[in-house]
Amino acid sequence: MIHSRIVGTGSHLPEKILTNFDLEKMVDTTDEWIRTRTGIERRHIAADGETTVDLAEHAARRACEAAGIKPTDVDFIAFGTTTPDLVFPNCGTLLQERLGCRGVPAFSVETACAGFMYALSIADKYVRCGDSKRALVVGAETLSRITDWSDRSTAILFADGAGAVVLAPSEEAGIVSTHLHSDGFYKDLLYCGSGVSKGFGEGKPLLSISMAGSEVFKVAVTTLGKAVDEALGVNGLGRGDIDWLVPHQANIRIIQAMARKLDLPLERVVITVQDHGNTSAASVPMALDVAVRDGRIKRGDLLLLEAFGGGFTWGSALIRY
Ligand code: COA
Repeated sequence: MIHSRIVGTGSHLPEKILTNFDLEKMVDTTDEWIRTRTGIERRHIAADGETTVDLAEHAARRACEAAGIKPTDVDFIAFGTTTPDLVFPNCGTLLQERLGCRGVPAFSVETACAGFMYALSIADKYVRCGDSKRALVVGAETLSRITDWSDRSTAILFADGAGAVVLAPSEEAGIVSTHLHSDGFYKDLLYCGSGVSKGFGEGKPLLSISMAGSEVFKVAVTTLGKAVDEALGVNGLGRGDIDWLVPHQANIRIIQAMARKLDLPLERVVITVQDHGNTSAASVPMALDVAVRDGRIKRGDLLLLEAFGGGFTWGSALIRY
C-alpha cells in the first residue's frame, strides 16, 4: 500500500504590507474594530503587475528546495486559485513553464478558499495510485485584484500570498485522509459576480467580492465543526488526539471556535491571520510552512488542516507530518 507524505513546504508573501492603520485612511474603520472582529492586524498586497503565478513560483521553488528536489523533477502540479493570471492557460501550466517540468499534468482548481484542500486531495490520490512521485500542490491568490477597496466590510479581510507543498510516496501514512464537500445552495452568500461567460471589460467592470459576512460566519463555524468531526470520526480519533490545527485563516473567532471543538489550547493552533489576512487558497499552505520552518510542527506530529470558502466549498485533511 503506497501512501503520500509531505516532503517539503514553501511560501511567499508580496513585499507591500497594508496595516489596519493604512485602512483607517481608506475606509470608515478602525484598527480596534478590525482586530477585535477578525484578528487581522496587517496583510500583504501584490505590487502592480505582480501576479498569482509570480507569487506561486517563489513558494514552489522553496517547497522543492525543502524537499531536496529540483523544480524540473516535479511530475504533477495541482494549483488552487480563484484569481488566475489568465483565463487560460491555467495557473498550473503557467507555473510548469516557469519550473521547467515539461509534459507533466498541470491544472488549476477554483474552489475559492478551499482550493488548496481540493488540490491536496487530488494530488494525494495520484501519489497513492503510483502515478506521481513528486507532486507539487499550490495554493496562491491575488485577492486584492477582486477586492473593492472602498467597501469596509470586505477590504479589511482579503490579501495576497502563496503556499506550496511537495508530496512523495511513502510506506507509512503521511496524508491519512482528506475530506471534500461543497454546497452550491449558498452561492449568494459569498461570490465574485464577474466571469467570462457573464462578461466583463468593454464597459462592464470586473466586479469585486460580495459577502454576507455574519451569515458566512455562522455557516462556516457550523460546517467546519462538522468537518472536524468527520476527519476525527473516520479515523477513530477523539478530541485531544490532534497535535496541531492548521486552519484556514479567515477570522480569529472562527479559528478559536475550531480550537474549542478540538479541545486544543490556542498554543497548538497555527495562527497567521494577524499577519496574512484571508489569502483564500494560499492561507493553509502558508500557515503550514510558517509552523514547519519555525520548528513548531515536527516530524511525526498529527495535523488537522481545514478550509472553508465561497460556494460554499470546504475540506479537511488529517496528516501525520
Ligand atoms: N469597520 C467598522 N465597522 C464595520 C466594518 C468595518 N470594517 N465592517 C462592518 N462594520 C459595521 C457594520 O456596518 C455593522 O454596523 P451596524 O451595526 O451599524 O449595522 C457592524 O459593524 C456589525 O457588522 P457585522 O457584519 O454584523 O459584523 P460581524 O461581527 O459579523 O463582523 C465580519 C464582520 C466580516 C468580520 C465577520 O462577519 C466575518 O468574519 N465573517 C466571515 C467572513 C469570512 O470568513 N469570509 C471568508 C470565508 S472564506
